[in-house]
Amino acid sequence: MQNSLFANVEELPRDPILGITEAFVADKDPRRVNLGVGVYQDENGKVPLLACIKQAEEKLLAKSAPHSYAPIDGLAGYNSAVAQMVFADKVDLANVATVQALGGTGALKLGAELLRVVSPQAKVWISDPSWENHRALFSAAGFTVETYPYYGADGELDFAGLTAALEKIPAGDIVLLHACCHNPTGLDLSQEQWRKVATIVRARGLTPFLDTAYMGFAEGLEADAFSVRLFAADGGPLFVSFSFSKSLSLYGERVGALCVLTTSAKERGRVLSQLKRIARVIYSSPASHGAAAAALVLADPALRKQWDEELGVMRVRIKQMRALLAQKLSERLPGRDFSYITRQNGMFSYSRLTAPQAIALREKYSVYALDSGRICVAALNTKNIDYVAECVAKVMTEIS
Ligand code: LMR
Repeated sequence: MQNSLFANVEELPRDPILGITEAFVADKDPRRVNLGVGVYQDENGKVPLLACIKQAEEKLLAKSAPHSYAPIDGLAGYNSAVAQMVFADKVDLANVATVQALGGTGALKLGAELLRVVSPQAKVWISDPSWENHRALFSAAGFTVETYPYYGADGELDFAGLTAALEKIPAGDIVLLHACCHNPTGLDLSQEQWRKVATIVRARGLTPFLDTAYMGFAEGLEADAFSVRLFAADGGPLFVSFSFSKSLSLYGERVGALCVLTTSAKERGRVLSQLKRIARVIYSSPASHGAAAAALVLADPALRKQWDEELGVMRVRIKQMRALLAQKLSERLPGRDFSYITRQNGMFSYSRLTAPQAIALREKYSVYALDSGRICVAALNTKNIDYVAECVAKVMTEIS
């Protein structure tokens, strides 16, 4: 066909994270293990349906509610429950514009588009490295994206580099920070380090945007809210993208929220009107089911307690897998220190696999890690961990 509209359309590379899952799904090797995407799996290799969500869904089903449209900004009960959970008593919630979003990515997108309205000249600063989609998402919204140092040459947090860079970022620019469980490195700031960062960010007049996709996976919901509440306590401005994908195991339901802390209820109203316009022209209004289930869990004390327990089970299992992986790698590669795996937080370990090693791991052994060396430790279990450790040790030895 000569005159096809698509004759010259460029073929893009596959997504660096979800493209790994595509390759994994196509792989028929029975030993295959997907350590690419950030999805928690239980000891049996299954994505869990949390009991708190199952009960909430049963309550929803019993109601037999019709499938009408949700409001543009999402379910009101859900939005206020999320804002309450994220900020606790640190802010006047009348100043917070909260919009239900399509997962954490959808929340970032809403925030990026709002920032294009209020700070069109600003640059966006992300950590080096950061979640692969941050740069793409903010670039697609029209921003120039720069990086600040984060991961040191020694494999630890480069806090001196981070603060020195923040001190030089021009006023008005946007700084994207990971509230907890940094993706991909798993290296988080201590509370004291957060205080220093917050002081610099405020002194320089930068706009903080806290990506909060893993709340509950480092130390628990309250402890992991520290950074967000610290930034909120001085009254803002503050952008928080929030996701329940991991913490309520609601991946496919796309349940997230954007919270924007403004300085008054009037300002909040204007900001909300902008966010509603942004949502309306992209997807009109969000889906209801997952958010309704999440709202029930947050509102019902028994379900909420159950969620805390289930989240604790996930968190502890991940920490056990970290310890086991570090131990099994040390046994196979004596003399090497793998203790960094146990010092990292959340679902990921920045494993120190190089790109050629990660590629060999996939191609020779059907163990799927990201090219950056990021592995999802939340996908390990006692049945696949020996194979994974064996293969990681092999590529670390065979490929320099
Ligand atoms: C990840 O980093 O693997 C997750 O946040 C899933 C995604 O959308 O990339």
